[in-house]
Amino acid sequence: MKAWTCGRIFNQLVKAKIPGKSSLLRLIVHLGALIPISLLLYDYRIDNLTANPIQEITFRTGKTTLVMLCLTLACSPIYSFLKYRPALNMRRTLGLYTFFYVSLHFLTFVVLDYGLNLGLIYEAIFEKPYALVGFSAFLILLPMAVTSTKGWQRRLGKNWKRLHRWIYAAGGLAVVHYSWAVKSDIREPIAYGIVVALLLLLRVPRVKKATHALFDRMRTGQPPALARVATK
Ligand code: HEM
Repeated sequence: MKAWTCGRIFNQLVKAKIPGKSSLLRLIVHLGALIPISLLLYDYRIDNLTANPIQEITFRTGKTTLVMLCLTLACSPIYSFLKYRPALNMRRTLGLYTFFYVSLHFLTFVVLDYGLNLGLIYEAIFEKPYALVGFSAFLILLPMAVTSTKGWQRRLGKNWKRLHRWIYAAGGLAVVHYSWAVKSDIREPIAYGIVVALLLLLRVPRVKKATHALFDRMRTGQPPALARVATK
């Protein structure tokens, strides 16, 4: 099948008028985002959190934070390239779930692991480089979560966008934290690193422009430039 025919089909799928498309997506996002915490509570209830439950909770909440962060970062490119507006509407929801899970992750560290002993927490954060990096990511996400409302968006004006661009720094720090925290196999952190790097790359004006041009050609059903050159 020719590339531009695929493009037309893809275009029709994206633009398909499904009633309540946005609210269906919202429901899916909420259900999906609540699965990790539900499983965690269930496994806690049936005593299925391994021999080291604190470590297991730390790992699960940490991993979920990273997945939520990547999904949040993916919303803008999905809207930008596919013109799929519901994705943009999900950005705030996913961002808040990211913050929810990182808060659980952080609370596990300070409450369950360190029993709220401020001296020990301070020492641990400043002595373990991976904890410091994770903490920096948390400190970036905190003001973003607080200012995520429409009221703050209005009050901060242009600065709101500037502040929320820091999510990319949080993404980078989160990947570094993860790579540092895992003791041996760093294949998974590398995979997350590639995803975050690609999402960042899509923000570079040149790359964005080229990718836009490619998607626009696919949407209008015209063959992409390379195919045109090849058929000359
Ligand atoms: C955006 C922020 C963060 C993300 C995405 C994140 C993610 C992760 C991930 C994916 C892991 C490894 C899980 C695994 O090995 O399967 C992890 C481990 C860990 N994180 Fe975070 N984290 C963040 C912030 C923090 C903060 C703020 C702290 C505490 C100050 C923290 C403390 C820890 C600890 C203690 C571990 C376990 C290390 C070990 O025992 O191997 N993290 N984190």
